[in-house]
Amino acid sequence: MSKRFPPISPKVPHMLHGADYNPEQWLSYPDILKEDLRLIKLAGCNVMSVGIFSWVALEPEEGVFTFEWMDKLLDSFAENGIYAFLATPSGARPAWMSAQYPEVLRVGANRIRNLHGFRHNHCYSSPVYREKTAIMNSKLAERYAHHPAVIGWHISNEFGGDCHCGNCQEAFREWLREKYGTLDKLNHAWWATFWSHTYTSWEQIESPAPHGETQVHGMNLDWKRFVTDKTVDFCKHEIAPLRAINPDLPVTANMMDLFEGLDYRKFADVLDVISWDAYPTWHDAEDDSKLAAWFSFNHDMFRSLKGRPFMLMESTPSLTNWQAVSKLKRPGMHRLSSLQAVAHGSDTVQYFQWRKSRGSSEKFHGAVVDHSGHEHTRVFRDVAELGETLGQLTDVVGTGVASEVAILFDWDNRWAVKDAQGPRNMGIKYEETVMQHYRAFWQLGVPVDVIGSSGDFSAYKLIVAPMLYMVSEDTGERIEHYVQDGGSFVATYWSGIVDENDLCHLGGFPGPLRKTLGIWAEETEGLYDHDVNGLKMQADNALGLKGEYEIGELCELIHSEGAETIGVYRDDFYAGRPALTMNRLGRGNAYHLAGRVMEDSFYDAFYAGIVKEAGIRKAVETMLPPGVTAQVRTDGENDYVFVMNFSGKEQSITLDGRDYTDMESGQTLETVLSLPVSGVRILKR
Ligand code: GLA
Ligand code: ZN
Repeated sequence: MSKRFPPISPKVPHMLHGADYNPEQWLSYPDILKEDLRLIKLAGCNVMSVGIFSWVALEPEEGVFTFEWMDKLLDSFAENGIYAFLATPSGARPAWMSAQYPEVLRVGANRIRNLHGFRHNHCYSSPVYREKTAIMNSKLAERYAHHPAVIGWHISNEFGGDCHCGNCQEAFREWLREKYGTLDKLNHAWWATFWSHTYTSWEQIESPAPHGETQVHGMNLDWKRFVTDKTVDFCKHEIAPLRAINPDLPVTANMMDLFEGLDYRKFADVLDVISWDAYPTWHDAEDDSKLAAWFSFNHDMFRSLKGRPFMLMESTPSLTNWQAVSKLKRPGMHRLSSLQAVAHGSDTVQYFQWRKSRGSSEKFHGAVVDHSGHEHTRVFRDVAELGETLGQLTDVVGTGVASEVAILFDWDNRWAVKDAQGPRNMGIKYEETVMQHYRAFWQLGVPVDVIGSSGDFSAYKLIVAPMLYMVSEDTGERIEHYVQDGGSFVATYWSGIVDENDLCHLGGFPGPLRKTLGIWAEETEGLYDHDVNGLKMQADNALGLKGEYEIGELCELIHSEGAETIGVYRDDFYAGRPALTMNRLGRGNAYHLAGRVMEDSFYDAFYAGIVKEAGIRKAVETMLPPGVTAQVRTDGENDYVFVMNFSGKEQSITLDGRDYTDMESGQTLETVLSLPVSGVRILKR
């Protein structure tokens, strides 16, 4: 039976294609506004994000509202078959508000209040700022929540940052009181007797500051958790007046690639659809596959937040103006980069921005319409051609990704492992480690979800948890049951070290993973960049792995407590001791990698072995050449396979004997599929 998610809006059951559009920049250029309507249609665009940062154009003076330009814009969209995501304007605020109510301005960790300027510079606790956004959002909802052109809400813009003002300090203390109840509990969780950091009254607690407290890891962690909760709370505050008027309009908030400041997973229940802004710096290397894998991981992570199709809310149609070097997309890359998002579950391709600004900070940022003002450009043609392709992908809308592999990625683990003063302060490389493991699945063409510790494990045949430094007893138990029940699990060095409060597990590492992994980790050391050890595979090991690989940066001396040794250390006083193990537990297997293997080829071989052993599906059952990947979306009846070439060379792959049709040409495919440089083929199976 066919299984799909409903389209983002029932009004447009097609792929959405469009851009951020701020016509208030052009209100005194009426010809341009008229021309935009023609060009939007010519580019095959059907949706624009409007109203982002438009506050002063909507409320030029306190309590004076000027919605007429927005009325006209949305009416003209409706007449022309163009839809809109309507933004709340809170990403930037009018100067009159900062002048009248300085409390809306953010205070830095140094306790200095910012001046007016920039954007994203507000205090989420400020009662005035909350009141002003509530008034604005109510008015927008009253006026537009049932407008025929409006298909959803875009909340603010790229939430991020923290504020250390008096209101926020009070809110932090309140949050801590609620979490711990008593100061004794807080002091224990923060291990506050060390260095006499014990608090004897709630009022003594201040957020981390460069000239104050930075050394209490538990506090740093709680501050980050608090900042997420505060931001989520502000987001909910923005949404409430919108839902009150039309609960059926979907709500999204655009996010940034693997942004560290907010635990995005906490937004999943608050938003109806996840959206994010992707700005890859293509063509920095001969082969774009490393970068492609990074963006692929992000797409998978954002899809996994809600386990359903997401939106590529922003991307550049050509170059950016804020990266170190602003390179143009080589022919084919616009199509490849955009369809990469679709391959991983996006039902939209959207850009920043529609028309290049004439002045100010983003006047050289790529846009669909350049300063030349017409459609006869390479970028415009790329966009229009993509519009045609997206028009052929209506069948893909609402399809999901059925992954049998998950990467375990928690924000609080990420925060804690990077904050800890430990074996390798010159670079613990958490995200890089996650990517070392993820990239192997990308190269194998195995679909992956990115989940958190509290996610549902039962859907997966394999869960990989690189450097799961922070793991609670509860998570440890859930992982143990998952393996007992037949799951495969992979852990690495520097795992199971601390609990959810960043307190070390007593009684032996890897703490609550010890039984599952069947090992005890006695010591962990950091190595200098020039130090090397090696991993030597044992003859006839369980995965049939062969050869030797280089180990560097982090090594653990482990003892087997029942696990089989797959590979041993090669050098130093480590020689002959286990470095890669497998523990059989119940019906499942748990693997432990004790040292950081440096070469990609190890991860390729290791995961190819586990994928085979655990009977995990690939998008196409074939060998993909390096730099080529395949991803698959499905409705349970038909599969939509995207074969993508990031290798920088022409390539071909051999299909696996199933029936394939090229979705663009409608042709039935032969066994060999050829791919030009930056080529992508979309197949229906
Ligand atoms: C972000 C913002 C946009 C714009 C782009 C430029 O994603 O949301 O407003 O500044 O970056 O790349
Ligand atoms: Zn504040």
